[in-house]
Amino acid sequence: MAKQLSSTFAMSTQLAANAARFGLFYAVNRAMDAQARRLGQRPAYKPKRAVPSERDLMASLGQLFVADADAVGRGLYAAAESDPDGMSGIVARLREMFVEFPQALARRDAADADSVRLESGADGLPDYYVQDFHFQGGGYLSERSARIYDVQVESLFYGAAQAMRRAALRFVAEAIAGRDQRRLSLLDVACGTGRLLRDARLAWPAMGLTGLDLSPAYLGEARRHMRSLRSVSFVEANAEAIPLPDASQDIVTSVFMFHELPPDVRRVSTPE
Ligand SMILES: C[S@@+](CC[C@H](N)C(=O)[O-])C[C@H]1O[C@@H](n2cnc3c(N)ncnc32)[C@H](O)[C@@H]1O
Repeated sequence: MAKQLSSTFAMSTQLAANAARFGLFYAVNRAMDAQARRLGQRPAYKPKRAVPSERDLMASLGQLFVADADAVGRGLYAAAESDPDGMSGIVARLREMFVEFPQALARRDAADADSVRLESGADGLPDYYVQDFHFQGGGYLSERSARIYDVQVESLFYGAAQAMRRAALRFVAEAIAGRDQRRLSLLDVACGTGRLLRDARLAWPAMGLTGLDLSPAYLGEARRHMRSLRSVSFVEANAEAIPLPDASQDIVTSVFMFHELPPDVRRVSTPE
């Protein structure tokens, strides 16, 4: 009975946290739309294929949030804790994002995705990497881009980004059920600011965790996000040539990277 109550409580807390996140970032998303309209910008991208209706999208988000809460209720991973940046950190980053937004719109209108080329460290990186993905200033190489990335992604996904990442942990939990986490290792390829690694660390405090990314600035944010937790190894490297011994990892995850790679590179980067 006590177990059932605590599971129901954990589920409800998780659902409430997801609902609050949705509310905040949905509002931010709409505010960005309004700002873009005020600035006279129109969406440059016209989808060529059918896209889900707003209603379908909301239904999918609801399913995602319920599945996330269900996984917490079943004890597959820990409930989402408060954001490591804190509410004041989120607000500061949102302000910075809104300040940068008109410049991003101007770059989009001018089809200029080259601000990253001015960043130190751009030389020698793969050509496809040296562009401003989503017209963010400094591409993946500037400190500011790393700082505001999380709120940008959450705004884009109506606050569902972290629940989407945690969906990967459900597969991990099922794959390692009954195994000793101290003997297991997980590599997150293109770990970005370390959001998946943080939830993985909270779920499996003794597992060996490694994050790999090509951006020093994003790895810096990832290290900061892991500060209060048991250590994680970080590797600055290209996912096309991972500098780790073959078969050294039990689990390999990767979130939100493959769609940004050219098709030929995607094949090279796919773990066997
Ligand atoms: C959209 S972000 C996703 C970050 C993170 N996985 C998340 O859940 O938010 C894409 C990430 O992929 C990294 N990346 C892109 N191409 C890469 C490559 N060839 N090797 C390593 N990292 C790469 C970028 O630096 C960036 O951090």
